[in-house]
Amino acid sequence: FVFNEINFDNHEQVVFASEEKSGLKAIIAVHNTHLGPAMGGCRMWNYASEAEAVRDVLRLSRGMTYKNAVAGLPIGGGKSVIIGNPKTDKTPALFEALGEALERLGGRYVTAEDVGTSPADMANVASKTKYVAGLGDRGDPSPFTALGCFVGAQAAIRHQLKRDSFDGLTVALQGLGHVGYDYARRLHAAGAKLVVADIDQAALQRAQDELGAEVVGIDAIYDVQADIYAPCALGATLNPDTLSRLKAKIVAGAANNQLATADIGEACRQKGILYAPDFVINAGGIIKVCYEYLNTPEDGMEAHVRRIGDTLAEVFTRADAEGLPTSVVADRIAEAKFKN
Ligand code: NAI
Repeated sequence: FVFNEINFDNHEQVVFASEEKSGLKAIIAVHNTHLGPAMGGCRMWNYASEAEAVRDVLRLSRGMTYKNAVAGLPIGGGKSVIIGNPKTDKTPALFEALGEALERLGGRYVTAEDVGTSPADMANVASKTKYVAGLGDRGDPSPFTALGCFVGAQAAIRHQLKRDSFDGLTVALQGLGHVGYDYARRLHAAGAKLVVADIDQAALQRAQDELGAEVVGIDAIYDVQADIYAPCALGATLNPDTLSRLKAKIVAGAANNQLATADIGEACRQKGILYAPDFVINAGGIIKVCYEYLNTPEDGMEAHVRRIGDTLAEVFTRADAEGLPTSVVADRIAEAKFKN
Protein backbone atom coordinates (compact mmCIF):
# COMPACT_ATOMS: atom_id res chain seq x y z
CA PHE A 1 0.00 0.00 0.00
CA VAL A 2 0.96 3.60 -0.39
CA PHE A 3 0.02 5.03 2.99
CA ASN A 4 2.68 7.70 3.18
CA GLU A 5 0.48 10.56 1.99
CA ILE A 6 -2.17 9.88 4.62
CA ASN A 7 -2.46 12.56 7.25
CA PHE A 8 -3.72 11.08 10.51
CA ASP A 9 -4.90 14.50 11.53
CA ASN A 10 -4.86 13.97 15.28
CA HIS A 11 -7.05 10.89 15.31
CA GLU A 12 -7.22 9.37 18.79
CA GLN A 13 -7.60 5.84 17.51
CA VAL A 14 -7.96 3.98 14.23
CA VAL A 15 -8.92 0.32 14.31
CA PHE A 16 -8.83 -2.25 11.52
CA ALA A 17 -11.48 -4.86 12.21
CA SER A 18 -11.61 -8.02 10.16
CA GLU A 19 -13.24 -11.39 10.56
CA GLU A 20 -12.66 -14.28 8.21
CA LYS A 21 -15.98 -16.08 8.80
CA SER A 22 -18.21 -13.16 7.84
CA GLY A 23 -15.72 -11.52 5.48
CA LEU A 24 -15.79 -8.28 7.47
CA LYS A 25 -13.14 -5.75 6.53
CA ALA A 26 -13.84 -2.54 8.36
CA ILE A 27 -11.98 0.51 9.55
CA ILE A 28 -13.21 2.40 12.60
CA ALA A 29 -11.83 5.89 13.10
CA VAL A 30 -12.23 7.72 16.39
CA HIS A 31 -11.18 11.30 15.74
CA ASN A 32 -11.99 13.05 18.99
CA THR A 33 -13.87 12.13 22.17
CA HIS A 34 -13.30 15.32 24.12
CA LEU A 35 -17.00 16.20 24.17
CA GLY A 36 -18.31 12.63 24.46
CA PRO A 37 -18.32 9.29 22.63
CA ALA A 38 -17.42 9.59 18.96
CA MET A 39 -20.56 9.36 16.82
CA GLY A 40 -20.81 9.02 13.06
CA GLY A 41 -22.28 6.67 10.48
CA CYS A 42 -21.00 3.45 8.94
CA ARG A 43 -20.43 3.69 5.21
CA MET A 44 -20.25 0.59 3.01
CA TRP A 45 -18.43 1.17 -0.24
CA ASN A 46 -16.56 -0.80 -2.86
CA TYR A 47 -13.26 1.00 -2.28
CA ALA A 48 -10.62 0.45 -4.92
CA SER A 49 -7.99 -0.11 -2.21
CA GLU A 50 -7.53 -0.22 1.53
CA ALA A 51 -5.60 3.05 1.29
CA GLU A 52 -8.61 4.73 -0.29
CA ALA A 53 -10.84 3.42 2.50
CA VAL A 54 -8.43 4.73 5.15
CA ARG A 55 -8.33 8.16 3.56
CA ASP A 56 -12.13 8.29 3.35
CA VAL A 57 -12.77 7.21 6.93
CA LEU A 58 -10.23 9.67 8.34
CA ARG A 59 -11.68 12.57 6.37
CA LEU A 60 -15.23 11.67 7.35
CA SER A 61 -14.54 11.09 11.04
CA ARG A 62 -12.73 14.42 11.38
CA GLY A 63 -15.73 16.07 9.74
CA MET A 64 -18.04 14.52 12.34
CA THR A 65 -16.02 16.05 15.19
CA TYR A 66 -16.51 19.51 13.68
CA LYS A 67 -20.19 18.96 12.89
CA ASN A 68 -21.08 17.57 16.31
CA ALA A 69 -19.11 20.24 18.17
CA VAL A 70 -20.67 23.19 16.31
CA ALA A 71 -24.12 21.67 16.80
CA GLY A 72 -23.55 21.84 20.56
CA LEU A 73 -23.96 18.09 21.06
CA PRO A 74 -22.32 16.15 23.91
CA ILE A 75 -20.60 13.78 21.48
CA GLY A 76 -17.31 13.56 19.65
CA GLY A 77 -16.55 12.58 16.07
CA GLY A 78 -15.89 9.23 14.44
CA LYS A 79 -16.83 7.18 11.44
CA SER A 80 -16.52 3.64 10.15
CA VAL A 81 -16.29 2.12 6.71
CA ILE A 82 -16.89 -1.42 5.55
CA ILE A 83 -14.96 -2.37 2.44
CA GLY A 84 -17.37 -4.20 0.14
CA ASN A 85 -20.13 -3.82 -2.39
CA PRO A 86 -23.34 -2.82 -0.60
CA LYS A 87 -25.43 -4.34 -3.42
CA THR A 88 -23.86 -7.81 -3.36
CA ASP A 89 -21.76 -8.33 -0.22
CA LYS A 90 -24.21 -7.65 2.61
CA THR A 91 -25.12 -10.37 5.09
CA PRO A 92 -26.48 -10.18 8.64
CA ALA A 93 -23.24 -11.83 9.85
CA LEU A 94 -21.18 -8.97 8.40
CA PHE A 95 -23.01 -6.39 10.48
CA GLU A 96 -23.06 -8.63 13.55
CA ALA A 97 -19.27 -8.84 13.27
CA LEU A 98 -19.11 -5.05 13.11
CA GLY A 99 -21.25 -4.95 16.25
CA GLU A 100 -18.76 -7.22 18.01
CA ALA A 101 -15.92 -4.92 16.99
CA LEU A 102 -17.79 -1.91 18.38
CA GLU A 103 -18.41 -3.78 21.61
CA ARG A 104 -14.64 -4.23 21.99
CA LEU A 105 -14.21 -0.47 21.65
CA GLY A 106 -16.38 -0.21 24.75
CA GLY A 107 -18.53 2.71 23.59
CA ARG A 108 -15.76 5.03 22.45
CA TYR A 109 -17.49 4.97 19.02
CA VAL A 110 -21.22 4.85 18.28
CA THR A 111 -22.30 4.02 14.75
CA ALA A 112 -25.42 4.77 12.65
CA GLU A 113 -26.55 4.27 9.08
CA ASP A 114 -24.84 6.09 6.23
CA VAL A 115 -24.27 5.74 2.49
CA GLY A 116 -24.58 2.04 1.63
CA THR A 117 -26.09 0.94 4.95
CA SER A 118 -29.71 0.84 6.12
CA PRO A 119 -31.76 0.66 9.32
CA ALA A 120 -32.02 -3.12 8.73
CA ASP A 121 -28.20 -3.41 8.72
CA MET A 122 -28.03 -1.34 11.90
CA ALA A 123 -30.54 -3.71 13.52
CA ASN A 124 -28.03 -6.51 12.85
CA VAL A 125 -25.27 -4.42 14.45
CA ALA A 126 -27.60 -3.82 17.41
CA SER A 127 -27.96 -7.57 17.99
CA LYS A 128 -24.34 -7.51 19.25
CA THR A 129 -23.88 -4.06 20.76
CA LYS A 130 -25.77 -1.12 22.19
CA TYR A 131 -23.35 1.33 20.59
CA VAL A 132 -25.55 2.02 17.58
CA ALA A 133 -27.87 4.98 17.00
CA GLY A 134 -30.60 5.96 14.58
CA LEU A 135 -32.21 2.57 14.22
CA GLY A 136 -35.14 4.22 12.52
CA ASP A 137 -37.65 3.12 15.12
CA ARG A 138 -38.46 6.72 15.93
CA GLY A 139 -38.46 8.01 12.39
CA ASP A 140 -36.33 9.44 9.65
CA PRO A 141 -33.94 12.29 10.64
CA SER A 142 -34.21 13.97 7.20
CA PRO A 143 -37.11 16.33 8.10
CA PHE A 144 -34.91 17.75 10.88
CA THR A 145 -32.05 18.24 8.45
CA ALA A 146 -34.52 20.10 6.23
CA LEU A 147 -35.68 22.25 9.14
CA GLY A 148 -32.06 23.16 9.91
CA CYS A 149 -31.54 24.15 6.28
CA PHE A 150 -34.64 26.30 6.33
CA VAL A 151 -33.69 28.22 9.48
CA GLY A 152 -30.16 28.47 8.07
CA ALA A 153 -31.48 30.01 4.86
CA GLN A 154 -33.52 32.45 6.96
CA ALA A 155 -30.36 33.54 8.79
CA ALA A 156 -28.61 33.92 5.42
CA ILE A 157 -31.29 36.15 3.83
CA ARG A 158 -31.35 38.32 6.96
CA HIS A 159 -27.61 38.77 6.86
CA GLN A 160 -27.02 39.03 3.13
CA LEU A 161 -30.22 40.58 1.81
CA LYS A 162 -31.46 42.34 4.97
CA ARG A 163 -34.80 40.60 4.56
CA ASP A 164 -36.99 38.55 6.84
CA SER A 165 -39.22 37.01 4.22
CA PHE A 166 -38.71 34.64 1.30
CA ASP A 167 -41.53 36.38 -0.61
CA GLY A 168 -40.33 37.09 -4.12
CA LEU A 169 -37.01 35.25 -3.69
CA THR A 170 -35.98 32.46 -6.04
CA VAL A 171 -34.25 29.31 -4.83
CA ALA A 172 -32.34 27.02 -7.24
CA LEU A 173 -32.66 23.68 -5.48
CA GLN A 174 -30.63 20.67 -6.58
CA GLY A 175 -31.92 17.27 -5.41
CA LEU A 176 -35.48 16.61 -4.27
CA GLY A 177 -34.71 13.64 -2.05
CA HIS A 178 -35.46 13.02 1.62
CA VAL A 179 -34.03 16.37 2.68
CA GLY A 180 -34.41 18.43 -0.48
CA TYR A 181 -38.13 17.87 -0.93
CA ASP A 182 -38.99 18.77 2.63
CA TYR A 183 -36.76 21.86 2.46
CA ALA A 184 -38.47 22.82 -0.82
CA ARG A 185 -41.88 22.42 0.81
CA ARG A 186 -40.89 24.79 3.63
CA LEU A 187 -39.44 27.36 1.21
CA HIS A 188 -42.57 27.23 -0.93
CA ALA A 189 -44.80 27.69 2.12
CA ALA A 190 -42.68 30.72 3.08
CA GLY A 191 -43.27 32.36 -0.32
CA ALA A 192 -40.15 31.42 -2.29
CA LYS A 193 -40.23 30.57 -5.99
CA LEU A 194 -38.50 27.24 -6.70
CA VAL A 195 -36.40 26.22 -9.68
CA VAL A 196 -35.43 22.57 -9.27
CA ALA A 197 -33.25 19.85 -10.80
CA ASP A 198 -33.15 16.12 -10.15
CA ILE A 199 -32.52 12.92 -12.08
CA ASP A 200 -35.73 11.47 -10.63
CA GLN A 201 -38.63 12.38 -12.93
CA ALA A 202 -41.30 11.47 -10.36
CA ALA A 203 -39.78 13.86 -7.79
CA LEU A 204 -39.71 16.64 -10.40
CA GLN A 205 -43.34 16.04 -11.36
CA ARG A 206 -44.38 16.14 -7.72
CA ALA A 207 -42.52 19.42 -7.15
CA GLN A 208 -44.24 20.93 -10.20
CA ASP A 209 -47.68 19.77 -9.09
CA GLU A 210 -47.45 20.45 -5.37
CA LEU A 211 -45.00 23.35 -5.14
CA GLY A 212 -45.39 25.09 -8.51
CA ALA A 213 -41.67 24.51 -9.11
CA GLU A 214 -40.02 25.23 -12.44
CA VAL A 215 -37.84 22.36 -13.67
CA VAL A 216 -34.43 22.76 -15.31
CA GLY A 217 -31.81 20.27 -16.49
CA ILE A 218 -29.28 18.89 -14.02
CA ASP A 219 -26.47 21.04 -15.36
CA ALA A 220 -28.61 24.15 -15.96
CA ILE A 221 -29.26 24.52 -12.22
CA TYR A 222 -25.94 26.41 -11.90
CA ASP A 223 -27.06 29.09 -14.36
CA VAL A 224 -30.44 29.89 -12.81
CA GLN A 225 -31.14 33.53 -11.98
CA ALA A 226 -31.71 32.81 -8.30
CA ASP A 227 -31.13 34.41 -4.91
CA ILE A 228 -30.20 31.15 -3.18
CA TYR A 229 -28.48 28.04 -4.48
CA ALA A 230 -29.48 25.02 -2.39
CA PRO A 231 -27.32 21.93 -3.07
CA CYS A 232 -29.18 18.90 -1.67
CA ALA A 233 -27.83 16.07 -3.82
CA LEU A 234 -24.10 15.73 -4.37
CA GLY A 235 -20.88 16.97 -2.77
CA ALA A 236 -18.22 19.19 -4.38
CA THR A 237 -20.69 21.26 -6.42
CA LEU A 238 -18.91 24.47 -5.43
CA ASN A 239 -15.86 24.59 -7.69
CA PRO A 240 -14.25 27.16 -10.01
CA ASP A 241 -16.59 26.27 -12.88
CA THR A 242 -19.85 26.50 -10.91
CA LEU A 243 -18.71 29.61 -9.01
CA SER A 244 -18.19 31.41 -12.30
CA ARG A 245 -21.77 30.53 -13.26
CA LEU A 246 -23.80 30.95 -10.06
CA LYS A 247 -25.97 34.08 -9.89
CA ALA A 248 -27.11 33.44 -6.33
CA LYS A 249 -25.51 35.44 -3.54
CA ILE A 250 -26.33 32.75 -0.95
CA VAL A 251 -25.50 29.04 -0.81
CA ALA A 252 -27.64 27.18 1.72
CA GLY A 253 -28.15 23.47 1.22
CA ALA A 254 -27.87 20.07 2.90
CA ALA A 255 -25.25 18.27 0.82
CA ASN A 256 -22.07 17.16 2.60
CA ASN A 257 -18.65 18.44 1.49
CA GLN A 258 -19.95 21.17 -0.80
CA LEU A 259 -16.56 22.85 -1.31
CA ALA A 260 -14.57 20.95 -3.97
CA THR A 261 -11.41 22.25 -2.27
CA ALA A 262 -10.91 24.25 0.92
CA ASP A 263 -9.86 27.41 -0.98
CA ILE A 264 -13.32 27.67 -2.54
CA GLY A 265 -14.49 29.12 0.80
CA GLU A 266 -12.29 32.17 0.16
CA ALA A 267 -13.37 32.28 -3.50
CA CYS A 268 -17.02 32.53 -2.35
CA ARG A 269 -16.13 35.40 -0.03
CA GLN A 270 -14.35 37.26 -2.80
CA LYS A 271 -17.33 36.84 -5.11
CA GLY A 272 -19.67 38.17 -2.43
CA ILE A 273 -21.40 34.79 -2.09
CA LEU A 274 -22.49 33.99 1.46
CA TYR A 275 -21.79 30.30 1.98
CA ALA A 276 -23.59 28.58 4.86
CA PRO A 277 -20.98 25.96 5.84
CA ASP A 278 -22.39 22.52 5.08
CA PHE A 279 -21.56 20.90 8.39
CA VAL A 280 -23.28 23.71 10.29
CA ILE A 281 -26.48 23.94 8.24
CA ASN A 282 -27.02 20.18 7.78
CA ALA A 283 -26.68 19.13 11.45
CA GLY A 284 -30.44 18.76 12.08
CA GLY A 285 -30.34 15.02 11.39
CA ILE A 286 -27.46 14.27 13.77
CA ILE A 287 -29.14 16.39 16.45
CA LYS A 288 -32.24 14.20 16.12
CA VAL A 289 -30.18 10.96 16.15
CA CYS A 290 -28.16 12.11 19.16
CA TYR A 291 -31.26 13.00 21.20
CA GLU A 292 -32.67 9.60 20.40
CA TYR A 293 -29.48 7.73 21.31
CA LEU A 294 -28.87 9.57 24.58
CA ASN A 295 -32.56 9.39 25.52
CA THR A 296 -32.64 13.16 25.89
CA PRO A 297 -36.24 14.36 26.33
CA GLU A 298 -37.30 15.30 22.82
CA ASP A 299 -39.27 18.40 23.79
CA GLY A 300 -36.11 20.51 23.43
CA MET A 301 -35.04 18.93 20.18
CA GLU A 302 -36.78 21.18 17.67
CA ALA A 303 -35.49 24.27 19.49
CA HIS A 304 -31.99 22.76 19.32
CA VAL A 305 -32.31 22.30 15.54
CA ARG A 306 -33.61 25.87 15.19
CA ARG A 307 -30.48 27.15 16.95
CA ILE A 308 -28.62 26.26 13.72
CA GLY A 309 -30.00 29.62 12.51
CA ASP A 310 -28.40 31.47 15.45
CA THR A 311 -25.11 29.66 14.98
CA LEU A 312 -25.03 30.61 11.31
CA ALA A 313 -25.85 34.23 12.12
CA GLU A 314 -22.80 34.21 14.42
CA VAL A 315 -20.64 32.61 11.71
CA PHE A 316 -21.72 35.24 9.15
CA THR A 317 -21.14 38.18 11.50
CA ARG A 318 -17.71 36.94 12.57
CA ALA A 319 -16.68 36.22 8.99
CA ASP A 320 -17.48 39.83 8.04
CA ALA A 321 -15.77 41.27 11.10
CA GLU A 322 -12.62 39.18 10.67
CA GLY A 323 -12.49 39.23 6.86
CA LEU A 324 -12.46 35.44 6.74
CA PRO A 325 -14.40 32.84 4.74
CA THR A 326 -17.44 31.47 6.60
CA SER A 327 -15.95 27.97 6.27
CA VAL A 328 -12.86 29.00 8.25
CA VAL A 329 -14.91 30.75 10.94
CA ALA A 330 -17.09 27.64 11.36
CA ASP A 331 -13.97 25.47 11.73
CA ARG A 332 -12.64 27.81 14.42
CA ILE A 333 -15.92 27.77 16.35
CA ALA A 334 -15.78 23.96 16.34
CA GLU A 335 -12.12 23.81 17.34
CA ALA A 336 -12.69 26.15 20.28
CA LYS A 337 -15.22 23.63 21.59
CA PHE A 338 -13.52 20.29 21.08
CA LYS A 339 -9.91 21.32 21.67
CA ASN A 340 -10.56 22.82 25.10
P1 NAI B 1 -31.49 11.33 -1.07
O1 NAI B 1 -30.72 10.22 -1.72
O2 NAI B 1 -32.81 11.04 -0.47
O3 NAI B 1 -31.71 12.51 -2.14
C1 NAI B 1 -30.79 12.90 -3.09
C2 NAI B 1 -31.58 13.42 -4.30
O4 NAI B 1 -30.65 13.94 -5.24
C3 NAI B 1 -32.36 12.33 -5.01
O5 NAI B 1 -33.67 12.79 -5.29
C4 NAI B 1 -31.55 12.10 -6.29
O6 NAI B 1 -32.36 11.66 -7.37
C5 NAI B 1 -31.01 13.49 -6.52
N1 NAI B 1 -29.84 13.54 -7.40
C6 NAI B 1 -28.86 12.62 -7.57
N2 NAI B 1 -27.98 13.06 -8.49
C7 NAI B 1 -28.39 14.28 -8.87
C8 NAI B 1 -27.88 15.25 -9.79
N3 NAI B 1 -26.77 15.05 -10.50
N4 NAI B 1 -28.55 16.43 -9.92
C9 NAI B 1 -29.67 16.67 -9.20
N5 NAI B 1 -30.21 15.77 -8.35
C10 NAI B 1 -29.57 14.60 -8.19
O7 NAI B 1 -30.49 11.99 -0.01
P2 NAI B 1 -30.87 12.93 1.22
O8 NAI B 1 -30.97 12.11 2.44
O9 NAI B 1 -31.98 13.85 0.84
O10 NAI B 1 -29.53 13.78 1.35
C11 NAI B 1 -29.20 14.82 0.45
C12 NAI B 1 -27.81 15.34 0.75
O11 NAI B 1 -27.77 15.84 2.08
C13 NAI B 1 -26.70 14.30 0.66
O12 NAI B 1 -25.53 14.92 0.19
C14 NAI B 1 -26.51 13.87 2.11
O13 NAI B 1 -25.20 13.40 2.34
C15 NAI B 1 -26.75 15.17 2.82
N6 NAI B 1 -27.21 15.02 4.21
C16 NAI B 1 -28.36 14.34 4.50
C17 NAI B 1 -28.81 14.22 5.81
C18 NAI B 1 -30.10 13.53 6.14
O14 NAI B 1 -30.61 13.73 7.26
N7 NAI B 1 -30.69 12.76 5.23
C19 NAI B 1 -28.03 14.79 6.92
C20 NAI B 1 -26.86 15.53 6.51
C21 NAI B 1 -26.47 15.61 5.20
